[in-house]
Amino acid sequence: MTTTLVLGGTGKSGRRIAARLGRNVRLGSRRGTPPFDWDDPATWPAALDGVSAVYISYYPDVSFPGAAERVGAVARAAAAQGVQRLVLLSGRGEPDAEPAEDAVRAVGVDWTVLRCSWFMQNFSEHFLLQSVLDGVIALPAADVAEPFLDVDDLADVAVAALTEPGHAGRTYDLTGPRLLTFADTAAELRRATGRAIRYQTLTPEQYATAAADAGLPAEEIEPLTELFARVLDGHNAHLSEDVTRVLGRPARDFADYAKDVAATGLWAR
Ligand SMILES: NC(=O)c1ccc[n+]([C@@H]2O[C@H](COP(=O)([O-])OP(=O)(O)OC[C@H]3O[C@@H](n4cnc5c(N)ncnc54)[C@H](OP(=O)(O)O)[C@@H]3O)[C@@H](O)[C@H]2O)c1
Repeated sequence: MTTTLVLGGTGKSGRRIAARLGRNVRLGSRRGTPPFDWDDPATWPAALDGVSAVYISYYPDVSFPGAAERVGAVARAAAAQGVQRLVLLSGRGEPDAEPAEDAVRAVGVDWTVLRCSWFMQNFSEHFLLQSVLDGVIALPAADVAEPFLDVDDLADVAVAALTEPGHAGRTYDLTGPRLLTFADTAAELRRATGRAIRYQTLTPEQYATAAADAGLPAEEIEPLTELFARVLDGHNAHLSEDVTRVLGRPARDFADYAKDVAATGLWAR
């Protein structure tokens, strides 16, 4: 049997992919056995030993400085150890993520690039959870619409790319089925939770100050603020059919995501 290494295997996308693959999965994270650490190349050979396919989710962000070098180095190490298939999680409409994509394409093994829209799960498993709990989603996004993607759909597409033929050499644009502004997401979250939740537009400077106040590490604030400016300027405000093309079913809607998370009680805390 072959082993699939899932980098970021304890994160939002990686743990869903690992759960779908079931057996013969190795979690690539600092908590994995053996551990994998992006900052420590000495951990890479053991993590890649006996592996035939790798899902690459880079931390902290595939568009941040240094990502292409790290992703390329891991991809080359993987190929040198006999890995035959690489699936990279990338960002949709993010020119700064393209060098990491090119680094994977250049290695010479089968590759698939998954260019993803903003995750719906940012509101439940990431940096917007506290905003939802506080009732104010405050971002430098104005009234730009984004086709939010359910990470469960990303996981289904990634598993297809890791296990089925026909996805090598493909770059997929993964979006949800509907364009929503952040004010729209607040309305959906109000409907799902019955709680008062609103959207507030911040300037980039106000956002940087709020992020610092919230304890975000200083080295992440500037790239994150720049990322918002680059991604949330309207150029991604269009839908893709790639989730349906790969899975043969429509992508999941934000309203269904919000209803399911609300039912768990997470947002009632
Ligand atoms: N959020 C979005 O809307 C969005 C949209 C498009 C693309 N993306 C891309 O998604 C990627 C993140 O994927 P995700 O959201 O699925 O992951 P995530 O939930 O942010 O989880 C991070 C993962 O990285 C691991 N990790 C952290 N530091 C590490 C290190 N030094 N060495 C090895 N592993 C480390 C963590 O495991 P341990 O703590 O156990 O090590 C964890 O498994 C980023 O590249 C981002 O650019 C995000």
